[in-house]
Amino acid sequence: MLNLKGKNILLVISGGIAAYKSLELIRSLKKSGSNVHVILTQSAKEFVTELTVSQLSQNEVHTNLFDYHSELHMGHINLSRTMDLIVVAPATANIIAKMANGIADDLASTTLLASNKPIIIVPAMNPQMYQNAITKNNIKKIRENGIYVFGPSHGETACGENGMGRMEEPADILGCIVEFFQKRTKLKNKTAFVTAGPTIEPIDPVRYITNNSSGKQGYAIAASLSQFGAKTTLISGPSNEPIPDGVKCIKIDTAKQMLDAVQSVSPADIGIFAAAVADWKVKNYSNQKIKKDRSVPSLELTENTNIIKTIVNNPNTKPKLAIGFAAETENLIENAKNKLEKVNMDWLLANDVSEKNNVFNGDDNTIVFFNKSNTENWKKMSKMDVANKLSNLISEYFE
Ligand SMILES: Cc1cc2nc3c(=O)[nH]c(=O)nc-3n(C[C@H](O)[C@H](O)[C@H](O)COP(=O)(O)O)c2cc1C
Repeated sequence: MLNLKGKNILLVISGGIAAYKSLELIRSLKKSGSNVHVILTQSAKEFVTELTVSQLSQNEVHTNLFDYHSELHMGHINLSRTMDLIVVAPATANIIAKMANGIADDLASTTLLASNKPIIIVPAMNPQMYQNAITKNNIKKIRENGIYVFGPSHGETACGENGMGRMEEPADILGCIVEFFQKRTKLKNKTAFVTAGPTIEPIDPVRYITNNSSGKQGYAIAASLSQFGAKTTLISGPSNEPIPDGVKCIKIDTAKQMLDAVQSVSPADIGIFAAAVADWKVKNYSNQKIKKDRSVPSLELTENTNIIKTIVNNPNTKPKLAIGFAAETENLIENAKNKLEKVNMDWLLANDVSEKNNVFNGDDNTIVFFNKSNTENWKKMSKMDVANKLSNLISEYFE
């Protein structure tokens, strides 16, 4: 029997025909030892009754945002606070759209928006609804915000049409939930740092040179490592990305500050160098703003200290597993292999950042993965999926 003893799970049932399968899910969650609370949307009440759900969950069922009694204790906020995990099954196209757009107009959507807990959604809908570009974009958007999406699968749906949109079976949803909790302990007791974003190198107090890095890939990796249970520090140059839950963030500007910050958290078990660190800084930095009525200044550049080399070549700071990134615009494989050899890294993730791939500003990444003996071409995937794939490999390495 799969063990979820002591876990508090909030199940949100939205109004799809597959809602009847969620009754089976409640039973198996109870059998595996978890404490199940349920929110039913108004539409879900057309498919399953409060009475059945409360009998199976052995808990009061929540349906109304403006419930006088539960709102005495801020029910729509507190419902998620005491939970370990929120599962939305079935997740209708409608609730997915609300989640993707921050709509909070009933108890389910308000609780989801106000939640500080991990969320798994299990979509179920007509294949056309699922294939609709709007739904696809909504799913992509919530995925990028760290929400897990399980399914749907291919097959005959309740409406009689065949295609993608069938809700995963309750036993598989239970398996996914168990795996979720197991994953959270995979890197428990491990320390990790991730560098991310660009660095900026000042010319004078108001001007600087920098690069196009958004920080998205590094932030996704930090979020994923933290979800896998690692004590994670993110060392980030200027970035608009939100700091992931549970991650300590040290904000820096220059390469020198980034090096100092990495040294301050070293040695770590896992060191991931995903930042686009400026190779050069301005040698002739001006303490005063350079006046534009002077002749056009020429910038003399000098090399920044190589952060990866400095950290990895020193036995006192070398992480147990050192992972670098190589952003290349040409000769990807050759340049990446050179980098792996020159700098003593264990693994390297190379990506083609030429303009056509829109990697720096985009949400997807196509990685070529190198370790000392192997090269693997990963298919194009979201930066969050790259992060989770990497966390899985790291977990296997430490096993
Ligand atoms: C019989 C019937 C079955 C439905 N099944 C689904 C479904 O499987 N998936 C879905 O996304 N919407 C389905 N809908 C439409 C939703 O019920 C509708 O979009 C509703 O507004 C969803 O509300 P909720 O997301 O707040 O639960 C169905 C509607 C009916 C009448």
